[in-house]
Amino acid sequence: MSQYREKLFAPARLNGLELRNRIIRAATFEGKCPNGYPGDELIALHREVAQGGVGLTTVAYCAVEANGRVKKEMMYMHEGIRSQVEALTSAVHQAGGKVSGQMGHCGNFSQNTDFRGFRPLGPSPMINLGGIAAGLPFAGAMSHKDIDHVVQCFHDAALFMKSAGFDAVEVHFGHGYGLSQFISPRTNRRTDEYGGPLINRMRYPLRALEAVRKAVGDEFPILGKMGLTDGIKGGLTTDEAVEVAGLLDDAGIDAIIPSGGTSSMNPMLLFRGDSLLPSMLELEKSAFMRFGMRVFGKKMFRNYPYEELYFLDGARRVRDRIKRAKLCYIGGASTMQSLETVMREFDFVQMGRTLIKDPLFVKNAMADPNYVNGCDHCNKCAAMILHPEGIRCVRNDP
Ligand SMILES: Cc1cc2nc3c(=O)[nH]c(=O)nc-3n(C[C@H](O)[C@H](O)[C@H](O)COP(=O)(O)O)c2cc1C
Repeated sequence: MSQYREKLFAPARLNGLELRNRIIRAATFEGKCPNGYPGDELIALHREVAQGGVGLTTVAYCAVEANGRVKKEMMYMHEGIRSQVEALTSAVHQAGGKVSGQMGHCGNFSQNTDFRGFRPLGPSPMINLGGIAAGLPFAGAMSHKDIDHVVQCFHDAALFMKSAGFDAVEVHFGHGYGLSQFISPRTNRRTDEYGGPLINRMRYPLRALEAVRKAVGDEFPILGKMGLTDGIKGGLTTDEAVEVAGLLDDAGIDAIIPSGGTSSMNPMLLFRGDSLLPSMLELEKSAFMRFGMRVFGKKMFRNYPYEELYFLDGARRVRDRIKRAKLCYIGGASTMQSLETVMREFDFVQMGRTLIKDPLFVKNAMADPNYVNGCDHCNKCAAMILHPEGIRCVRNDP
């Protein structure tokens, strides 16, 4: 067995947490929370991944407050869901795995119409394209009080998650979500101490991180997913992203996961492979949204052919900048050869689509060095976030 294959499957520590191996199931919004309540299907999904042998599985999307959800079919961290969350975390533990939750706030692109008079808020006023059909066409700018409030929500959500059995949390600093809207110069046009130079644009994300650390204590692992680039005009560049990683490292984050792109403006940068557009058109219920997708779709869903390890160069730049934190590679690590390459240079690896195609991938790959999982990056699983039953690999359909 090569030393890198051995490293991949051997136990490893992440701050105070012992993992049975270095493979982490990436956060992939499951869409299995009807009306915001974590369903039995969500538990079954993570139980199966744990039975399949991953070291750590990540539950997505754990909104830090009700208004931090894109849609009401997402859960937010509060006492009303405790029993189901505890059932989920203990199901993973019983299967020998550990469980993390991706904490986030969607900021300016909410489509959630649960609360009358609610207006999505981000760093600066802007059109909320995804919210037009829901009657939320504009996003406003967060006041200092709004920022203080969401920072407190990060704290309270982390406290809730730790007490409900999560072994780690992953803070979402990327993909155009609320914290990255402040990091990106495209969406943050503020002139106060939360806008302008990167150190100011990082003020709110770093406050959120500090609040999470305060809630969970020094030994509890905090991972952070961030963007290597927004891939849009005027957005975050890799030069600045490397500094973002440095600031997160200095602030005491335990692991950095460098990804890229933004869900609302350039999603294909983070996936690569077949466009999501045709399947999303099929699944989108709103005629208005389908019309919008037809008009703006080509610009939004750009063509990025799939290749293995597509974030390798950017991840190396981040690795060279950070001093303390572990680096967790993500993006097109789906063959054993790629996983060994990753282990040569990084500490952990996150896998998304490979484990959607084959939740038992780890066991299968441990048993057979030549195992091939068969995901062809058709990306239909990603479009399934619009499906009422949530995500699945359609290639596995009988
Ligand atoms: C169905 C699906 C849902 C996703 N949802 C999320 C999410 O909620 N949060 C996130 O940070 N990334 C999300 N992603 C992106 C993945 O975490 C990961 O960055 C991407 O799939 C690349 O990794 P892979 O090549 O191993 O699949 C999602 C991906 C898929 C396929």
